[in-house]
Amino acid sequence: MMCAMPEPTGLPSPGPPARASAAIPRLIDRGDGRRLERFGPYLLVRPAPAADGLEPADRAAWVAADGRYERSSRGPGAWHGPRLPTGPWTVQLEGLTLELRLTGTGQVGLFLEQVPLWRWIRRQVRAAGRPLEILNLFAHTGGSTLAAAAAGASVVHVDAARSAVAWARRNAALSGLAEAPIRWLVEDVEVFARRELRRGRRYDAVILDPPSYGHGPRGEPWRLEDRLADLLRSCAALTSRRRVFLLVTTHTPGIGPDRLGRELAAALPPDELRLGRLETGPLEIRAAAGGRLPAGAFARWTHS
Ligand SMILES: C[S@@+](CC[C@H](N)C(=O)[O-])C[C@H]1O[C@@H](n2cnc3c(N)ncnc32)[C@H](O)[C@@H]1O
Repeated sequence: MMCAMPEPTGLPSPGPPARASAAIPRLIDRGDGRRLERFGPYLLVRPAPAADGLEPADRAAWVAADGRYERSSRGPGAWHGPRLPTGPWTVQLEGLTLELRLTGTGQVGLFLEQVPLWRWIRRQVRAAGRPLEILNLFAHTGGSTLAAAAAGASVVHVDAARSAVAWARRNAALSGLAEAPIRWLVEDVEVFARRELRRGRRYDAVILDPPSYGHGPRGEPWRLEDRLADLLRSCAALTSRRRVFLLVTTHTPGIGPDRLGRELAAALPPDELRLGRLETGPLEIRAAAGGRLPAGAFARWTHS
């Protein structure tokens, strides 16, 4: 499957990131189908379908926005605004230093809803009492990879987009983790999983955050709705008999916490499912001005 993150287009070439800002990245407000976020020195507005019909908590806060991303029905959207960043910049978050930048898709290289899961991942790694081998699939710019590596795990980071893996490697260097035991792989997740299973390779844990849709390795259409069960079965097989945890997150309408939990439970052999605890819940981001922004669902199994 392939719905890799597109190469950034028409945006300033990434010189060295600007100096780190102390302002912690966070959601300030959401409403009217948009989200207002602080990413270091920049206050940005982006589309947020989950905020449709929600009333902003602090309309005055939006006036100070430095820029906004607008989608277009005639092709890629664009960034507009009085004080747009002219190149990449860095932020500090959870002990990591991360490069952010405006991309042609409206992404900046950080999914705020993942941050509480970084803390959870770190706790699991530290609690294991031995160095874990973790597989991070659809790993993007590496937030979860670096959270796990910083806690002492060795990680295999898999993403189909060469630009995403290069970005993640820069984040590792910025965070002082360039020498950490991380394997960086530009690969299709299903092709990779099949090969690892053939080789009898096993992991202590898998983290996956698949997109809703994309294309398969031969360009065929790919929908998570159709592929989720197989993906989770592969992850269960890749952690067979040594599983410490399995963490899956989705942002797909129709795949809520209950469905995700059922699919994860169904992927685990009953005798192994009983050895641990299954938790599910919504992914949501708390806004500084008040209220929350729904951002998907999570399900996780942890060995008891
Ligand atoms: C929603 S992002 C994941 C965000 C990530 N969890 C994070 O917190 O930064 C989805 C990622 O999956 C990657 N991707 C999409 N299809 C893929 C595939 N078939 N195989 C591997 N990676 C894929 C994209 O390149 C993108 O980086």
